[in-house]
Amino acid sequence: MTTQSIHGEWSSRLAFIFAATGSAVGLGNIWKFPYITGEYGGGAFVIVYLLCVAMIGFPVMMAEVLLGKRGRASPVNSMRVLAQEFRQSKLWILLGWSGVIAGFLILSYYSVIAGWALAYVPQVASGIFVNMPAQEVGVVFDTLVANPLMLVGWHTVFLVVTMVIVAGGVQGGLERAVSVMMPALFLMLFILLGYAMSTPHFIESVHFMFDIDFQKLLYPNGEFSGDGILAAMGQAFFSLSLGMGAIMVYGAYLPKKTSIAQITAAVVFADTLVAILAGLIIFSIVFSNGLEPAAGVGLVFKILPVAFGQMPYGSFFGTLFFILLVLAAWSSAISLIEPAVAWLVETGKFTRFSASIFSGIALWLVGLLTVFSFNIWSDFKPFFDKDLFTLIDYLTANIMLPLGGVCIAFFVAWLMTRKSVIEELEMSSDSFAYHLWYFLLRYVTPIGVCVVFLNAIGVFS
Ligand code: PHE
Repeated sequence: MTTQSIHGEWSSRLAFIFAATGSAVGLGNIWKFPYITGEYGGGAFVIVYLLCVAMIGFPVMMAEVLLGKRGRASPVNSMRVLAQEFRQSKLWILLGWSGVIAGFLILSYYSVIAGWALAYVPQVASGIFVNMPAQEVGVVFDTLVANPLMLVGWHTVFLVVTMVIVAGGVQGGLERAVSVMMPALFLMLFILLGYAMSTPHFIESVHFMFDIDFQKLLYPNGEFSGDGILAAMGQAFFSLSLGMGAIMVYGAYLPKKTSIAQITAAVVFADTLVAILAGLIIFSIVFSNGLEPAAGVGLVFKILPVAFGQMPYGSFFGTLFFILLVLAAWSSAISLIEPAVAWLVETGKFTRFSASIFSGIALWLVGLLTVFSFNIWSDFKPFFDKDLFTLIDYLTANIMLPLGGVCIAFFVAWLMTRKSVIEELEMSSDSFAYHLWYFLLRYVTPIGVCVVFLNAIGVFS
C-alpha cells in the first residue's frame, strides 16, 4: 500500500500542481470553451458550466486523485488493486479501461486541432494577417481545414512531439515540460486581456458571458432541448480532465504524504480562470469586429488573427500566442495518453519507449477520421446526423467522461471505507470541508449527472 508507482513520482506538490494544471488547461479552455459558449448563447451556458465545475467537477477531481494515490498505478491496475482491497467486483477494472479508451479517442482528435494551432504559428509569424479583414481571415481557416494533407502533416508533428515527451518519463519528460509552459501561458493571456479591454466592445463581451438568459440555452430554436446543459456538464469534465484516468494516473505519481484538497483547488481555480479569460478575450474581438459568436469549431482560429492583425506588434504576440496554445495542448495531450502508456508498461511487454511508439502509431491512424471529417468525409454522418469528429467528441466528452466521473464518485463515496478515504485525503474528518465534499460526492454528483442525462434525452420535456 505504501509502495511507489513503478513509473516514478513527482518531485514535489508544486510539480503535481503544474502537471495537473497542464493537463487541465489546454484546447478545452481556449478553443472549445469559447466556441461552445458562443453556440449556446453565452451567460446561461457559462453559469451552468460554473455550477458543474464547483458542485461536480471539484469533488470528483479530489476523488480521482485519491483513487490514483491509493492505487499507485495506471487506471486499469489501480482499479484492479482497489477493487480487491475493498472487496468489490472485479468488473471495476472496466472503469480503468473506459478511461484508457476515452483518453485515446480524445487525443486522436485533439492532436488534429492542435495541429491547426501549429499551422498558424508560421502563418502569423509571416505577417499575412496584418490588417487583413475578418472575412478573409475566415477564408484562411477554411482553406486550411479543406486540405487533408496539411492537416495530416501537422497532426503528425504534434503527435511525434507528444510521444517523445511521454517516452521521457514522469520527471524527465512530463514534469520538465510543464513547469515552463504554464507560467508563460498565463502571462500571454494577461497581455491579450489587456488588448481585449482596450477594444470598444469589451463590456459587451462581459454581458454576453454573464447575463443569464435561460431561454437561449433551453430553447435554442424555439423548442426545448436539454443538450446545452449536457454540453456544459461535459465541458466541465473535459476541461478539468476528469473521468478518464488522467488525473488518476497523475495522482498515482504523488508522494504518499500529500494532502489532496488544496492542490485540487488550485488546479480547478487555474483552469476556470483560463477559460473565463479566454472567453472574454475572444468575445471582445468578436463584437468589436461585428462578427458572429456562434461560428463553431473555427471560432478562435477565425477571430484571434483579426486582433493580432490590428494590434501593435501583433505578429509577434500572435506567434507567441499560438506557440503557447500548442504548448498548452501538449501538456494536456501527454496526460490523455499517459493512462494507456502506463498500462502497457505495466503489462511487462513494453518499455516506456516502445509503448509510446505503439500508441503514437495507433493515435495517428485513428486521428485520420477527424482529419477527413473536415474535408473529404464532411458529408459522412453515420449516426445522429453527426460527422465522425463531432461524434467522437460528443461520445467522449458528453457521455464517457461524466459516466466515468460518476463511477469514480460512487467508488470513493460508497465503496471505500471512510478510514482509508480520510487517510488518503490527509484531511481532518471533523472539518466542514470534509463533510461538504463527502456530501457532494455521495449525492450531488450521481444525482446531478443522471438528471442531466435524462434531461438531454428528453425525459423532462
Ligand atoms: N482538459 C484538457 C483541455 O481542456 C483536455 C483533457 C481532457 C485532458 C481529458 C486530459 C483528459 O484541453
